[in-house]
Amino acid sequence: MAIHVDETNQTFHLQTDHTSYIFQVLAHGILGQVYYGKKIHVKPQYNELLKRELKTDTPAYSLDEPRFQIGDLKQEYSDTGTGDFRRPAYQVTQSNGSRITDFKYDHYEVVQGKQRLAGLPSTFDDTDDGAETLIVHLTDELIQLDLELNYTVFPHQDVIVRSANFKNHGVEPVALNAALSAQLDLPDKQYDLIQFAGTWARERHLVRTPLRSGIQAIDSVRTTSSPQQNPFMMLARPQTTDDRGEVFGFNLVYSGNFLDQVEVDQWNVSRVLVGINPAEFEWQLAPDKAFQTPEAVMSYTPDGMNQLSQQMAAFYGEHLVDVKYRRMERPILVNNWEATYFDFNDEKLLNIAKQAKKLGIEMFVLDDGWFGHRNDDHTSLGDWFVDPKKLPNGVGAFADEVHDLGLKFGLWFEPEMISMDSELYQKHPDWLIHVPKRRATPGRNQYVLDFSRPEVVDAIYAMMSKVIQDTKLDYIKWDMNRYITEMYSTALPADRQLEMPHRYILGVYNLYERLTKAYPDVLFESCASGGGRFDLGMMYYAPQAWTSDDTDAVERMKIQFGTSYGYPQAMMGAHVSAVPNEQTGRITPLETRANVAFYGAFGYELDISKMSDQEADEVKKQVAFYKQHRSLYQFGKLYRMDSPFDGDGNVMSWLVVDEQQAHAIATRYQVLNHPNAPYERLYLRGLDPDKQYRVNDSTETYYGDELMNAGIVIGSEFDDTAAVKNSADFSSRRFMIDAVQ
Ligand code: DGJ
Repeated sequence: MAIHVDETNQTFHLQTDHTSYIFQVLAHGILGQVYYGKKIHVKPQYNELLKRELKTDTPAYSLDEPRFQIGDLKQEYSDTGTGDFRRPAYQVTQSNGSRITDFKYDHYEVVQGKQRLAGLPSTFDDTDDGAETLIVHLTDELIQLDLELNYTVFPHQDVIVRSANFKNHGVEPVALNAALSAQLDLPDKQYDLIQFAGTWARERHLVRTPLRSGIQAIDSVRTTSSPQQNPFMMLARPQTTDDRGEVFGFNLVYSGNFLDQVEVDQWNVSRVLVGINPAEFEWQLAPDKAFQTPEAVMSYTPDGMNQLSQQMAAFYGEHLVDVKYRRMERPILVNNWEATYFDFNDEKLLNIAKQAKKLGIEMFVLDDGWFGHRNDDHTSLGDWFVDPKKLPNGVGAFADEVHDLGLKFGLWFEPEMISMDSELYQKHPDWLIHVPKRRATPGRNQYVLDFSRPEVVDAIYAMMSKVIQDTKLDYIKWDMNRYITEMYSTALPADRQLEMPHRYILGVYNLYERLTKAYPDVLFESCASGGGRFDLGMMYYAPQAWTSDDTDAVERMKIQFGTSYGYPQAMMGAHVSAVPNEQTGRITPLETRANVAFYGAFGYELDISKMSDQEADEVKKQVAFYKQHRSLYQFGKLYRMDSPFDGDGNVMSWLVVDEQQAHAIATRYQVLNHPNAPYERLYLRGLDPDKQYRVNDSTETYYGDELMNAGIVIGSEFDDTAAVKNSADFSSRRFMIDAVQ
């Protein structure tokens, strides 16, 4: 049993295998947060933890109860304007203009398992993995507004998923000005906030800052989760490392505007809020209507950030990503984007495809430029039919040729976009998101379709469906190359315009939902100029995402290492590209490029038909090697060892290990070679201390404890006695660690 309720004291104790989450109904039906952390015993109540002293400058609940001061409580889902001056979890404007509410606990239900949410990506328990859901009902009597707080406990991954649902049973409409998914009031502020920040081509760099008094927040108002800030954040004790120490993880199953906020109050209570960004949000709730928030994912461990990443990775594999992808090895692909950009014809593409087949690659992906008359990024978005100048026999016939080679076939779409130079725009100029009589701002020379309108989604669905059927498509790369400006829908009334950001995302989810249902064998990879929409909302439909447009091996070390804190390897599209690198101009060895890309959904992004025989031979070996170890790379337990975000960032290393702790692959990367360098060690992780292992087929065997505690001595990679000196800059070393039978 995961959910323990003490009826007398109205205490709710949610237990996972290693954690406890406790809250209690306090006076006046207010929910008080009691504890979240390492598992503790179930008791009827935890009065000590709720102890509060009278604070002279804090408003009292009433004249009769001067000691009950809600501004001094740790709460579950707090309001504003009635004595708690911290930022609230929700706000409701009523027909008289008031924003004051008074939700009181009413009753609760416990249900086995976890249902999916309608219309939103969400977690589930399709495998009877022991999930239990607690629904706590609260009511504001005056306006007959109900609030359900949902908590699902996933005991074996130490995860709790939360959301809120507002239901208007009253006679008047109300407006939600804020409706966050989760609130957590922690009792102190001794935490570092760890966020993953960046921009295009520099996504998810780790930034760690101690909490300070006041509000600190990461958010997006771009109508994408964004490369600037990822919705995944951690709160870790200052001493916490990848290997040890307390850490909480928070994420949101959502792809639009989000807010992750921590407010440290005057008593050092740290209030965490996670959900849809209240900036640029409002939702009109007519009588009999409900508003369901997206789900927030929370996880805790006292055992360091590697453990946190691993338990969340296991959770997403079991309870977020479609069950069929859980262990499905992702195909090795070649994508023509960096090979040809817009300049291709069927012959050029087929040469790449034929070479791919020879090298053992499994899928050919045709990127941007196959439709309309798109020879640059100014045209044709929305015209999802073939450009006969490039593929004269049609995309269906081209797909047949690729399939006949024995390869899978994938295609690029940017379904949410429209170019002014397109047939779609000629027919439906009003489908372009804009404010009438005002300038519409282009981004990458293109505009966005009003996905809040069902007829727009229908039209795109119909066009995509036709192509999917014609091509017997195996894979879709779903791109999204700009943020949304002039957010407005000509189809919505004035008082509903602030609903537009959320309605837009619901439209995107609707298209995903329909396509994934109708074409269950198509594998989707999401992309937003690379990693601009790397979030759990997308992952529900598309189990992998293009991690970054930056394919430079050195840059990817940071990007993939940072991403790995919140997302498992199988979610990270990672390709080997040409040198000098398109984004940085850097020349790195082919071996290093592959050694970085192996830790993800692997592929190539260069003109393999133009490689030298020697390079082709190397690629063939890489492909064969990856196939042999693909499951370990994509689904193995990942341990980060040396962080590129520490010190001068010159070294990065990590390791994947299988469930039996019999096989592991560790890789150590070095950015620049230092002359006459000191000896360094690579301390492995995750091995069985008592097992003996060979390292790279060594004759000598090593105990797991030896490899983990004493480490492997790393000497210089630069051989200054060699006749031809090879640079050891941008080098990588791979260690195959295999248990001796
Ligand atoms: C941005 C993507 O990240 C690239 O991989 C490529 O698909 C281009 N868009 C095509 O326009």
